[in-house]
Amino acid sequence: MAKIVMYPADNAKEALDWKAVQGQHITAVERKVLVLGSGGREHALAWRLAQSEGAHVFIAPGNAGTAQVGTNVNLKLSDFEAIKHLCLKEQINMVVVGPEQPLVDGIVDFFKNDEALKEVKIIGPDKRGAQLEGSKAYAKDFMEKYGIPTAKCFKVNKDNIEAGYGFLEQVKAPYVLKADGLAAGKGVLILNDLQEAKDELSKMLDGKFGAASATVVIEEFLKGIEVSVFVLTDGEHYVLLPEAKDYKRIGDGDTGLNTGGMGAVSPVPFCTPDFLSKVEDRIVKPTLKGLKSEKIDYKGFIFLGLMNDGGNPYVIEYNVRMGDPETEAVMTRIEGDFSELLDACADGRLDEVHFAKSEKTAVTVMVVSGGYPEAYKKGMRMSGLEGLKDVVAFHAGTTFDSEKQVVTSGGRVIAVTAHGDSIEEARDLAYREVEKIHFEGANYRHDIGLDLMKLQ
Ligand code: AMP
Ligand code: GLY
Repeated sequence: MAKIVMYPADNAKEALDWKAVQGQHITAVERKVLVLGSGGREHALAWRLAQSEGAHVFIAPGNAGTAQVGTNVNLKLSDFEAIKHLCLKEQINMVVVGPEQPLVDGIVDFFKNDEALKEVKIIGPDKRGAQLEGSKAYAKDFMEKYGIPTAKCFKVNKDNIEAGYGFLEQVKAPYVLKADGLAAGKGVLILNDLQEAKDELSKMLDGKFGAASATVVIEEFLKGIEVSVFVLTDGEHYVLLPEAKDYKRIGDGDTGLNTGGMGAVSPVPFCTPDFLSKVEDRIVKPTLKGLKSEKIDYKGFIFLGLMNDGGNPYVIEYNVRMGDPETEAVMTRIEGDFSELLDACADGRLDEVHFAKSEKTAVTVMVVSGGYPEAYKKGMRMSGLEGLKDVVAFHAGTTFDSEKQVVTSGGRVIAVTAHGDSIEEARDLAYREVEKIHFEGANYRHDIGLDLMKLQ
């Protein structure tokens, strides 16, 4: 049975064993890395970065879990001046931006244009590059211009709403309506009824998602199985990180409301070398060519939300960051020195670094608050975390109460990742340990990976 060590920063011997298992090339460079964000993705990034020799990780604002692998600094991600102050005070070498909002708001441009921050490397695209996620209309135009396979679409605003109704009448149900801008992951509606789709289109243009839905992209519905493919690029070269499947609905069997993600599996059985080479040839290479043609200097992650329709990949969406909870699975399968990989990305020498993926299968199960994704309580005390064995527990929504006890602070609370030689083995281990975690209202899906076991 595969073993993952809980918290290397807490346990030097186990950390070294882990590196030996991973065949890690150890460099004795002192590196100060700042991870921006506070979710499970950021805990997983910080956990992985902390394994590099000589690395000290800061997380802003972080959570109760990130405090175990580095130093939390409480600041607002919209406060770029505070982030600058932190970088200068702590002599940060590299900043890794977790969520999309600071990227869309131009944090990379802020760093590039500030003389005092010139030496600080930052992983993420500038404001123009971040439009690939920040504007669905921009992303669709980009894909059309560079011949990247995606669903047919029609862009609507208040001036051409009648034409929008016309497009809905032409395409078949289900109808896909997308707010152009960022809408906290809620801006996509999929409807079966034509009249309902027309009504929702009108409501969106009237501000259902605020300014984000002043423009709506209507898309043809794509059939198939979804997969998240992660690219790390320095603008010139790229590597494919391990791919993962996300489970978005709250209920077993993909039922109920959409969530931020209830679990993940990596690798994904249908992502064969043949499928991934189609992804590279039809999507990754034309995307990078497009970015270059648009003179967008892109150093960071590209998260391709893909639909596999009969062995052919189509882009559902671009994200300009890593996925959550996919990162909680993916980070456990990246071998070698991850800080060095990101350093090489920032320096434009991704072609020079060795990078390998673990043969193991990772299964991540997200434990969420009762009521999530609708209203839920916060501040619930948790038990069972100390007793977890052979898994990594990434904190997604936790904090400390006044007595320094770990309590819930979000909808998604803890992501438990286990490794195995098969999905079944990793699933069994993940669920064995998840059952040990207790807090009032705790909920999780029981079927993470079940659908993929049939495809193995
Ligand atoms: P997005 O925010 O673009 O990822 O959309 C949220 C979810 O809606 C996706 O993960 C898909 O499950 C679904 N979706 C979005 N666009 C389409 C489409 N054109 N066809 C089918 N499903 C879609
Ligand atoms: N898990 C999907 C996302 O991060 O957008």
